[in-house]
Amino acid sequence: MRTLWQHCHAATMAGGRYAIIEDAAIITAAGRIEWLGPRAELPSSAVAHSVDLAGAWVTPGLIDCHTHAVFGGNRSGEFEQRLQGVSYAQIAAQGGGIASTVRATRAASEDQLFSSARQRLEALMRDGVTTVEIKSGYGLDLANERKILRVARRLGDELALTVRATCLAAHALPPEYAGRADAFIEHICQQLLPALADEGLVDAVDAFCEHLAFSPAQVEKVFIKAHELGLPVKLHAEQLSSLHGSSLAARYQALSADHLEFMTEQDAVAMAQAGTVAVLLPGAFYCLRETQLPPIDALRRHGVKMALASDLNPGTSPGLSLRLMLNMGCTLFRMTPEEALAGVTVHAATALGLGDSHGSLEVGKVADFVAWQIERPAELAYWLGGELPKRVVRMGHELNL
Ligand code: NIG
Ligand code: FE
Repeated sequence: MRTLWQHCHAATMAGGRYAIIEDAAIITAAGRIEWLGPRAELPSSAVAHSVDLAGAWVTPGLIDCHTHAVFGGNRSGEFEQRLQGVSYAQIAAQGGGIASTVRATRAASEDQLFSSARQRLEALMRDGVTTVEIKSGYGLDLANERKILRVARRLGDELALTVRATCLAAHALPPEYAGRADAFIEHICQQLLPALADEGLVDAVDAFCEHLAFSPAQVEKVFIKAHELGLPVKLHAEQLSSLHGSSLAARYQALSADHLEFMTEQDAVAMAQAGTVAVLLPGAFYCLRETQLPPIDALRRHGVKMALASDLNPGTSPGLSLRLMLNMGCTLFRMTPEEALAGVTVHAATALGLGDSHGSLEVGKVADFVAWQIERPAELAYWLGGELPKRVVRMGHELNL
């Protein structure tokens, strides 16, 4: 069905800017944007169905390009420990942290994981999210990584949401490989990744490059295997210390390097040259009460595209609102509201390898958009969470959220 959406303003986010069209009209057909422009220039071709958006601001559907949304249990107990002064690294060293979520996730059935993740994703959707990335990484063996990735696929099938699934098997060392990190990496490369890729469960491959996780040399082995399998890579890098994982990611044309608080200017140069997106995660920065800011000025100076994401996970960022991350990106990281919105639309799409089809309002792209009842686009970063009145359109159809 061809639909005309009118009486609205559009922040198209084409080219990473608001690129505003006042008094805009949008024609959608077959799930795509067929025409977009000032209403005064609307072509006279017949439109079956017209929707009055009552002066709303239309943006692309929001894209949360870094989540760990599928997990068992929660870690509110560790939250209390951290409030008492115990650090994230200390908790991990005591067998908590990622390892405790691995235990809970291994114990959970596929249905249990599906229903808890579904509730979290529905919260994101009510906030205007139409595309989400979901990482595995709480299974850490073939059967349990498969379970998480199957749940991610099922969420994409059953919810009105586009889901990209990322295999993050190199997230932490499982107990059965204690003291044998190289052997675990070998297992990932020889068995786990090829099997899951063969089953069509993997859109990208990620790893955690950090002293308390895997070294750059170990991560590189995973990247080489991912490329052999034809899969793009991403990396958790420079979150707690500088190992130049982001430069390594750039050498492997990574879609993104994420966190980046401790990255250097040289890392930024490498990422700019490779077109690797910097995914900034203010929720984790905030929850861990970090003080080292990601080098936003260096990223800007070298033209690295910046995305923002929730990092939704039970340990460092139990964030259920992507718009709250817009506010944090501005308040904590000093991004502008325009940069923040580009970070959850056009640059987030690029961070998922979806830059040609998603992330901006442009003719030919998928018709995913949100019509917000706001007066200015900056309001999207201004309000602290809550629900803004809005209408969400996915693939040309309005959702009933
Ligand atoms: O993105 N940094 C590593 N992974 C997650 C945290 C995972 C956890 O603590 O459960 C992150 O912050
Ligand atoms: Fe993460």
